[in-house]
Amino acid sequence: MRRPLVVANWKMNGSLASNSERLQSFLARWKGVHQAEVAVCPPAVYLPQAAELLAQSNVGIGAQDVSAADEGAYTGEVSGGMLADIGCQYALVGHSERREYHGETDALVAKKFVAAQRHNLTPVLCVGETLAQREADETLVVVGEQLKAVVDLAGRNAVASAVVAYEPVWAIGTGLTATPEQAQEVHAYIREQLGSIGAGVRILYGGSVKPANAEELFSQNDIDGALVGGASLNSDDFYSICQAAE
Ligand code: PGA
Repeated sequence: MRRPLVVANWKMNGSLASNSERLQSFLARWKGVHQAEVAVCPPAVYLPQAAELLAQSNVGIGAQDVSAADEGAYTGEVSGGMLADIGCQYALVGHSERREYHGETDALVAKKFVAAQRHNLTPVLCVGETLAQREADETLVVVGEQLKAVVDLAGRNAVASAVVAYEPVWAIGTGLTATPEQAQEVHAYIREQLGSIGAGVRILYGGSVKPANAEELFSQNDIDGALVGGASLNSDDFYSICQAAE
């Protein structure tokens, strides 16, 4: 009942030339009808390029971040309305790199979540614990609080039409992956926290997903796809991961 979703997070990588090559080589293989849905999140300046290259395909596009504000004196920010205007369907909110390097708090992430929905973008809410928090056995508390901040501001029903991505910080870009059992435990917990709407919400796993571990992760009951960083920069690897979600 939950359609698998694989989202590429290119982070701050790419150029007009390399993006074009990467997208075209992916599209050459990802043709026709698929059970899994795929979306790509390039850096903001390249969103129009991606929108154009992907226009005739069934691959969606998403932003890596969205402003909590709609317009005005917010130098450097990009609003949800602008993202929708150029054809975005998704927006990542609360990625751990935004939380860590840009001081995004649970409260700000919740505002961004609401701002994305105000402009009909589907938020991909990223949550996850640091290594220290996992070692202190605080994983479920931390993830629960990150989720609660959004539920409190947006309301539980708003989360029904969103996507959640569980990304343990210690597994992002490190080559370390949560075991399928570790990930499943947190995914099941997130679903349980969402109560009656939980069964319909897609919960993605992120953190060093690669062709070699995708299938096993996707075989877990509560893992509905992936948010893929490093491996999404290689179109062969990204294609394999998308295939594993089918
Ligand atoms: P990674 O990044 O796949 O390179 O670990 C995932 C993410 O940060 O979304």
